[in-house]
Formats: sequence, structure tokens, C-alpha cells
Amino acid sequence: MASFLVSKSGPLKGKVTINGAKNSVLPIMAASLLSDKCSILEDIPNLEDVNVMCELLEHFGSRLDFKGRQLKIDNGNIQPALAPYDLVRKMRASFLVMGPILSRFGRVKISLPGGCAIGTRPIDLHLKGFAAMGADITLGHGYIEAKADRLQGNRIYLDFPSVGATENIIMAAALADGLTILENAAEEPEIIDLANYINSMGGHIRGAGTDTIKIEGVKELNGCTHTIIPDRIEAGTFMVAAAISGGDITLCNVIEDHLRPVIAKLKEAGVKIETVEEGMRVYVNGPLHSLDLKTLPYPGFPTDMQAQMMALMCTIPGISMITETVFENRFMHVSELKRLGAKIKIEGRSAIIEGVERLQGAEVRATDLRAGAALVLAGLFADGTTEVTDVHHIDRGYEDMESKLRSLGANVKRVP
Ligand code: EPZ
Repeated sequence: MASFLVSKSGPLKGKVTINGAKNSVLPIMAASLLSDKCSILEDIPNLEDVNVMCELLEHFGSRLDFKGRQLKIDNGNIQPALAPYDLVRKMRASFLVMGPILSRFGRVKISLPGGCAIGTRPIDLHLKGFAAMGADITLGHGYIEAKADRLQGNRIYLDFPSVGATENIIMAAALADGLTILENAAEEPEIIDLANYINSMGGHIRGAGTDTIKIEGVKELNGCTHTIIPDRIEAGTFMVAAAISGGDITLCNVIEDHLRPVIAKLKEAGVKIETVEEGMRVYVNGPLHSLDLKTLPYPGFPTDMQAQMMALMCTIPGISMITETVFENRFMHVSELKRLGAKIKIEGRSAIIEGVERLQGAEVRATDLRAGAALVLAGLFADGTTEVTDVHHIDRGYEDMESKLRSLGANVKRVP
């Protein structure tokens, strides 16, 4: 297991280019299964999760051809094989192949996704959508099987605006017979990117980005070329790196509109954020203030930025409160931050943070992707050296984090 050694770093300064969004490229790669024609995807991030999705597509017969950040996907010979546990276990997003395969072939068998550190993460809303479109679903021996001669469009209400369920249902409805109206749908930017991709293939999806999405099923879809949107969570993570180090970082390749809740809360804390020619400049000049925040489905504050913001709040004098409403167990980073000397109390779904003058470097463990990123950020501030272990979690969602941070002046190095 590799680790990052992070030592106290001065203000981070310079430019960083944000990669394509992990949470956009994964559903879009799954959606490529909706067609037997070739798709070309641009600005693919080099991430462990992308490698797992490639493995899964190849398992079904896709032929993948990487040229730098361009991925060509040829799905001419797809067979709806079984999606095995060892692949689905590695990455919950594997479950996103269920909708496209069911819609295109009328049958799919996939392992139940494993839980993960941040919660049980059920799939009931995904299955509710497939059943509403006429699929017969059976569960057994850790696998789910779904069959349907041809899915029928229907009106579907999501009890919770689940990102994955919204994506899986959009993909299933894209080739269904008739109109599907999805209500209380997730509104994340990644949903819009997915809908744009499927529409470029010849799909008819309207309303993506709102809570009501209409999908008119078509007979078949073609290939297309699509550029993945920038990763708003990687961008937010580097915004917090500027804040926690008292630095001055310019982020290139960002879409500010996707970052409005993060910009709003960092500005409320006293961080300066300006639009500049290359993108967005984030810097500190003056004291930062404690604040309260609550994670919510988009356009609320993103749960994927909760851990990073908590690391920042640990270093700002005063009392801050963070309430996590999306996942039931996304405070695994609290005990690790406390090993660095942070003062945090958990009360139900809220964490009360008392900012401290200094943190002390220690050995800490990345429990999940964003918790790992938060610990690296805290290590930039902590005295001495912080060893963050299990950084494979970080590699799942951040391309070359250590070299990007080092290029900004951070003392970070990867050790085996
Ligand atoms: C996506 O996960 C993201 N992953 C997550 O990012 C992100 O945290 C999450 O959306 C919320 O924004 C990808 O896009 C690959 P959900 P997903 O379905 O789709 C409950 C990261 O760090 N729920 O919106 O799994 C569920 O238990 C990752 O990049 C049901 O109850 O999230 C959770 O409490 C972590 N039934 C809540 O909804 C269901 O059928 C949100 O889950 C589905 C979900």
C-alpha cells in the first residue's frame, strides 16, 4: 500500500489544470454500451476508477483504444455477459452498466454492489425504475438479474434524487419504447453531461439538470465524439488547498457555474475568489472565519467536498458545524483528523469543529477517496510530517495529486 508523506508547506502558489470529471466519465463510459457504434471521449482523466470501468467494458466485449486523454470505445461485439462480483465490488459505479445492457439486450445479470466506507448505498431506486419500465427483476446468490422483451417508458418518481439511479434510469429509458418522465431526479452537472452525450448519439432527453427529466426512447443510438466536463470536486479540493495553506492558486479548466455552492461557502469563510483569464483565482489575504454548512443534493453543497471543508474548518479559529445529509456514514475522516490534533465532536449527522492554531503531523489512514484528500490537505497545515496511508483510495479519483500539489510548492511525496 502506498502512502503520501506530507510536510508542513508554505502558501501554495501557481496554476493547476483540472482534469475531466470522474463522476461524468464513468456513467458516460457505461452509456457507450447503448450503441454498437464507436464513441470517442476526450479529456479522460487517468484514474483507477476509469481503469476498472475499462476492465468492465472489455469484459462485455468492448474494444478500447487510449491515445493520451482520448478514449475510443468500439462496442461492435458486445455480449451481455455477467458482471462479476470482483469487478462490481471494486467500484460501485460498475452498477451503471445495468441500465444500458438491460435496455439494449433485454437481459442483464450483475453482482450486487458491495457497500463501502461511506454507507450501505442501496440500489432500490435503480431497481424501482427498471421495474416501472417492465423489467422482471430477481435477486439471488448475491446477483441481480433483470429481463424485459423491450422496456416501456413510464412515469417514475425517485424517493431521493439519487445520482446513480437517475443515470441508470436515463440510460435504460434511452432505448425504451415510448416516453419516460423521471421526477425528483438528481440535478448534478454530471447528469447534464450524460444527457448531452446520449443526445449526441441520437437520443431525445430533455430537462437534464432539473428535477424532471423526459426521455423519449429511440430504436437505436449511434456513436459520437464527446468531451468530458471538468471535475468540480477536484477543482473544489484545490480551492481548499489554497485556503488551508493561505496561498494563491489559479485553477484552469473549471466551469464556475458547477462550483457555486463551494464558491459561496469559501467566500463566506473569507477566501478571495476571482474569475481570471485562465480560469479561477483562489487566494487568502486576511483572516478566515468559521462557518456552518450542510451537504445536500445539487445545487446544494456537495457531499464530496464535505471532508475537505472539514479539514479547512479545523484550522480556522471559532466553532464551525458541518451537517452531512446525503450519506449516513461519511465522517470516517473525523477520527483521522483528530489524530492530527483537530477538535471535532460528532452529534448525530453533524460534526462540531473547534478550530485550532496548530495541528501536529501523525500517521493517518485514508478511509475513502475524499477523506484521503482531506487528510492530505490537513497535512499541508500540520507541523512536522503527516503520513497518509492507503492512498489507493485517492488514486481512484485524483490524477497525480502529489505532483500537482508539488508543482504548487507543497512538500508531498509518494512512498511505496
Ligand atoms: C454518486 O454516487 C457519486 N459517484 C458519489 O461520488 C457522490 O457522493 C454521490 O453521487 C452523491 O452526490 C459517482 O457519480 C460515480 P446517490 P451514488 O445514489 O450515485 C441513497 C465520490 O467521492 N440511495 O446519489 O452512489 C444512498 O444510500 C463519490 O466521487 C438510496 O437510498 O450516490 C445515499 O445515501 C462518492 N437508494 C444517497 O441516496 C438508491 O437506490 C445518495 O446516493 C440509491 C441511492
